[in-house]
Amino acid sequence: MKTVVCENYEEVCNHAADIFVRQLKDKPDSVLGLATGSTPIGLYDELTRRYEAGEIDFSKARSFNLDEYYPIDPSHPQSYDYFMRQHLFNKINLEKFNIPNGAASDPAAECTRYDMLIDAAGGIDLMLLGIGINGHIGFNEPAVSYPTGTYKVDLTESSIEANSRFFGPDEHQPVTALTMGIGHIFKSKKIVLIISGASKAEIAKKLFEGVIHTDVPACLLLLHPDVTVIIDKAANKGE
Ligand code: F6R
Repeated sequence: MKTVVCENYEEVCNHAADIFVRQLKDKPDSVLGLATGSTPIGLYDELTRRYEAGEIDFSKARSFNLDEYYPIDPSHPQSYDYFMRQHLFNKINLEKFNIPNGAASDPAAECTRYDMLIDAAGGIDLMLLGIGINGHIGFNEPAVSYPTGTYKVDLTESSIEANSRFFGPDEHQPVTALTMGIGHIFKSKKIVLIISGASKAEIAKKLFEGVIHTDVPACLLLLHPDVTVIIDKAANKGE
């Protein structure tokens, strides 16, 4: 695992954007894995800026998002579908994007459909990850076993609590989600994990111990041959 320690969040986003630019220069038809949450917002802004400056072209690329709440309508302002359109897809020339359908009537069938799409695309070339304060990646929550394919997961109290900041007091917050399993993440050729802010210091420290804590899903990344962790000083306090 390669670690890049940045001065601040802005530098994290710039460094991650450089990796996306290089990836699409080397392989314009790359398959990208994308994340939601607060951490990638600055990166998506930076990718938009570079797209507008003519420095990156997404026209031949395609993408698969890690996860989506279930059930949720894609038009719901808190859906990850809405988030991605708002922060990235409406602003760049990426036409072929995929997100698990949070409104599917049969979640198991939707997970199978999503797996088939990822496999048909040849798997993911560059996977962007954030990390939950409980160590989740995608919505692979701490557990004793981890499905390899896409699956419906019960969110933990910690994730529900952490994400409640996005929901209004009268808004229903889903307690389940559809998430890419560990298998798709692991088959990604390259993984970039971005970590920012003091709230992530404890979990980052655990990751950097170099020990596979099986109840910390992100620790499994220690086994992948090409992971770059880009972390700011605020999150790297625990070193
Ligand atoms: C969301 C996802 C999650 C987030 C994680 C961190 O698609 O994959 O694993 O990356 O919950 O979220 P933030 O960035 O909001 O702290």
